[in-house]
Amino acid sequence: MRRIISIANQKGGVGKTTTAINLSSALAELGKKVLLVDFDSQGNATRGLGFQVIEMPITIFDAITSQVDVNAAIKTTKIKNLDLIPANLKLASLETYIQSQGTLDRFRMLESCLNKIQGDYDFVIIDCPPSLGTLSINALVASSSVLIPVQCEYFAMEAVASILSTITKIQKDYNPSLKIEGFLLTMYESNASLCTEVAQQVRALFKENTFVTSIPRNISIPEASARGEAVTTYRPSARGSIAYFALAREVLDHVQKEN
Ligand SMILES: Nc1ncnc2c1ncn2[C@@H]1O[C@H](COP(=O)(O)OP(=O)(O)OP(=O)(O)O)[C@@H](O)[C@H]1O
Ligand SMILES: [Mg+2]
Repeated sequence: MRRIISIANQKGGVGKTTTAINLSSALAELGKKVLLVDFDSQGNATRGLGFQVIEMPITIFDAITSQVDVNAAIKTTKIKNLDLIPANLKLASLETYIQSQGTLDRFRMLESCLNKIQGDYDFVIIDCPPSLGTLSINALVASSSVLIPVQCEYFAMEAVASILSTITKIQKDYNPSLKIEGFLLTMYESNASLCTEVAQQVRALFKENTFVTSIPRNISIPEASARGEAVTTYRPSARGSIAYFALAREVLDHVQKEN
């Protein structure tokens, strides 16, 4: 059975896309069949895997609006076992599209689109945009679980509080089986006191829901993105790669414990 994981936090720049790319690539390298869905009009996950966003004729927008078959939107990537559904700026016009159509079930568009995928995936990872609007709601409605990257800095907890309240609403109104996969500490710096303070707060509040693995701040990560590669393939021995492999193993453990 496939597990659909949204990577979400409405706070910008906390490591959602980096986590979406590198968790996907690490799971793929560990032999799992993975589909990464870029669900942000910035198209950063698409770019981060080496694609030119402007040259993408078919994107997730075309698939969720049923203008093309979702299977035609799937691209294979340079990484074995990893496929991608790209996104670009077109996705920003979804609200306008929904209003022009009127009759759509506006929060179940992604769910019904993913239901039509024929590929045999173990994991579908959804990279959410930095907002809790229609796109993120669609992602959470379609997901089995949500992974929340938390950057250890000021206002991290405020962002966590609002995503938690969104999750509760979605569980109540649309998707009772939505679980929290875990909080993930990102860009962690053990020598920065604010960072360790926030990390302690997160671990104290969400004990068993916080991943044991934290992702260190590591220069190889932006270097890899700039080259359109996952860090796990660009520099497998980098601290960032090792951390994302450890995260992937924790996610696999969760799946095993549930079965
Ligand atoms: N562990 C890390 N070490 C160093 N740099 C990192 C790390 N994680 C992310 N970054 C860098 O921080 C920036 C923001 O990361 P990313 O794009 O993953 O965040 P995001 O939450 O997806 O942002 P947005 O909200 O805009 O979608 C990027 O330039 C990325 O390369
Ligand atoms: Mg992003």
